[in-house]
Amino acid sequence: MTEQITQPEVKSLPRIGSKAPQFEAVTTHGKLKLEDYKGSWLVLFSHPADFTPVCTTEFIGFQNIYPQLREMNTELLGLSIDSVHSHIAWVRNIEQNWGVKIEFPVIADLSMDVAGKFGMIMPEESSTEASRAVFVMDPEQVVRAIIYYPLSTGRNMDEILRLITALQTTDEHGVATPADWKKGDRVIVPPSATQEGAAERMNDESLECKDFYFCTKELK
Ligand code: BEZ
Repeated sequence: MTEQITQPEVKSLPRIGSKAPQFEAVTTHGKLKLEDYKGSWLVLFSHPADFTPVCTTEFIGFQNIYPQLREMNTELLGLSIDSVHSHIAWVRNIEQNWGVKIEFPVIADLSMDVAGKFGMIMPEESSTEASRAVFVMDPEQVVRAIIYYPLSTGRNMDEILRLITALQTTDEHGVATPADWKKGDRVIVPPSATQEGAAERMNDESLECKDFYFCTKELK
């Protein structure tokens, strides 16, 4: 008989713009609470399982971008439904085989409490492993972006850095960022909500407007 694994019941999953659900968890750095990250940006990511190849490449990738993330006041927190001893053995194995020391904490979510609260498990894909989810939270612990990848596909670290750079640029300058935007590129100035404003911005020399709804500017 196959064992039935039940996920904790969750009333509602985090959405972009909502406050992230609070949690306390056992990690490779001891017990941590979401609250501990208040004041920093946080990338909470889940991986399906320790000692698996795609996840190993992702851990090395996340560690490689960790110094850049920290320069952007952004912390990294991993999670899988494995024990803390498994996590410790795996990060030691990564250091032995690849020479990469994993410096960020990893949640051992055997109860699936955190994975359940964040909707990291896709039962149709696997009911015992977390999918490759990424939750970006701002210093007020509001969910600002969510990414989901399937078990078979490793995530793109440049995109995670780009996403945080874009979110921080939006917050600092009140602008939006176009497709494939990277730091230094022109940004989008949100459209005016009035007819008068729309006419005015067409004459604004600091903007480059293709049309009233499409104006860009350089960030100094
Ligand atoms: C991997 O990380 O290689 C992996 C993990 C779970 C399912 C498929 C691949």
